[in-house]
Amino acid sequence: MVSDLKQQVLIQRASSTGEMKRVLNSFHGTNIGFVPTMGYLHEGHMSLVEESLRTCDHTVVSIFVNPIQFGPNEDLDVYPYDLEGDIEKLESAGVDLLFQPHREIIYPEGFKTYVQVDEITDHLCGKSRPGLFKGVATVVLKLFNIVRPQHVFFGEKDWQQLAVIETLVRDLNLDIFVHRVPLVREPDGLAMSSRNRNLTSKERQKALSLSRSLEDAKEKISQGTTAASQLKQSIKDRITAESGMQIDYISICDPISLQEIEEVKGRTLIALAVKIGSSRLIDNCIVED
Ligand code: PAJ
Repeated sequence: MVSDLKQQVLIQRASSTGEMKRVLNSFHGTNIGFVPTMGYLHEGHMSLVEESLRTCDHTVVSIFVNPIQFGPNEDLDVYPYDLEGDIEKLESAGVDLLFQPHREIIYPEGFKTYVQVDEITDHLCGKSRPGLFKGVATVVLKLFNIVRPQHVFFGEKDWQQLAVIETLVRDLNLDIFVHRVPLVREPDGLAMSSRNRNLTSKERQKALSLSRSLEDAKEKISQGTTAASQLKQSIKDRITAESGMQIDYISICDPISLQEIEEVKGRTLIALAVKIGSSRLIDNCIVED
């Protein structure tokens, strides 16, 4: 009954820090959960939102395509956008407040301060997309300062991003609890991503080789293969069996430090990034030997 009532309440929207302050003041004394996103919301995003709705008194979602986390030849200009659809999803889920700032609100003229998280950003996506995590850490800290949440929700789909946020929160003494939310997949195994929208139907079919290669690797590990080089080779073979696949990285590493390992022993992260046409997709899984 309560959730039916909640669905009838219109979501509040704010695009400036002043508007945010006004709405947030009306939430006083309550537990605020925050889900930062770049929009074009799918069930992966909504699983973070649902976790926040379950855990917190009020849920705030932001939609902001953060220009400083995109490199010069990346997909900022073609990043998918569907504000109406997003609002509908957030409203029917019962989200209290949508923060949707203009670029100038986040990066006013003369902006000069950036956040750099070291070491953990030297691997995986940080290696091939220099500047990505400096952009992510900077915008996320700014959003945390504007929203002032007690709880924040991030997806394990972006494993390294989660590690960066956890490090940022710990190192800068932010009084925030970071919730890790499991990766959500399409029924056929493809990791949900806003970027899937830019795949042609052929590319969408080829993209299945990412999750399937991870499943194969899991299977091989359960049958006793532990050498990372052998596992990487079989993942590579599976993916490049499809034409036009450009592997950015295949990493078998410690899930906390993200340092490469040679033998799978205990909890291990397998993560990969592959370019298919003009889209770059990532996927990962955790294995235990
Ligand atoms: P975006 O790609 O929109 O993702 C927003 C959040 O949704 C991230 O925490 C991401 O890990 C999570 N997410 C995306 N796909 C998911 C899936 N299939 N399963 C589970 N969670 C998923 O990540 C960003 O935006 C940006 O870098 C941001 C943190 C907003 C900073 O600009």
